[in-house]
Amino acid sequence: MKPKQAQRKPYDVGDYSVPQVAASMSSAPSSVPTGFTRPTGKTSAPCLISPPPQAGPSGAPVRLGVMASGSGSNFEALAQAITAGQLNATLPILIYNNPNAGVVERAQRHNVPTMLLNHRDYDSREALDQKITETLREHDVEWVIMAGWMRIVTPRLIDAFAQRIINIHPSLLPSFKGIRAIEQALDSGVTITGCTVHIVTAEMDSGPVLMQSAVPILADDTPESLHRRIQFQEHQILPGAIALAVEQTRCP
Ligand code: GRF
Repeated sequence: MKPKQAQRKPYDVGDYSVPQVAASMSSAPSSVPTGFTRPTGKTSAPCLISPPPQAGPSGAPVRLGVMASGSGSNFEALAQAITAGQLNATLPILIYNNPNAGVVERAQRHNVPTMLLNHRDYDSREALDQKITETLREHDVEWVIMAGWMRIVTPRLIDAFAQRIINIHPSLLPSFKGIRAIEQALDSGVTITGCTVHIVTAEMDSGPVLMQSAVPILADDTPESLHRRIQFQEHQILPGAIALAVEQTRCP
């Protein structure tokens, strides 16, 4: 007779214990686990995630202005969540700063209007942020989503949309802030990293956390392989985190 398999809890993911979808405008975990050996394995290793909440918000679709600089896979995740009826939102404008950004083609495919605001055309960060703010306002944007925006933003923009700018960062904040977060995690020797969706405040990568997903670092990970698995999780949590933030501010 076969031994009876131990029953798994709903979000049990094999050899890794159940992590968090941390929610609410609270602060991020203060440290990442250390002292473990990195698991071996290929990209099939499970990621540590609980399912994100169903992506409201209820009421009128929220108008999201997206800012992006790169390939736009997070933009794509948003657009698809909207199309699938999982996120009650519209995308009135995509702002991008890099003329070669892959995100533009994705926006065109989803019929999202685009605007190139190239930072090289502006004398200062403030001047660029002023133009971004005006553009977002012209499109009646309610919330701003920085989906891979690779520029530091200034109070000019942050104050104009106070508590209504959301960023996605490829680490479990407050660990590994700033650029090269994935390389920082690999260099540090931690065995778990991940991604964080948070509200943008004046201090970089330090605003209230909306949602996080943990990703194990494997012994043979390269920055590229790890980034791929982190991005997969980014796409899972970004729509739900936006819904959560909007819903919270709409609550009486
Ligand atoms: C993401 O990994 C995000 O965490 C970081 O920039 C990357 C953007 O990727 N801020 P994509 O352009 O959405 O594919």
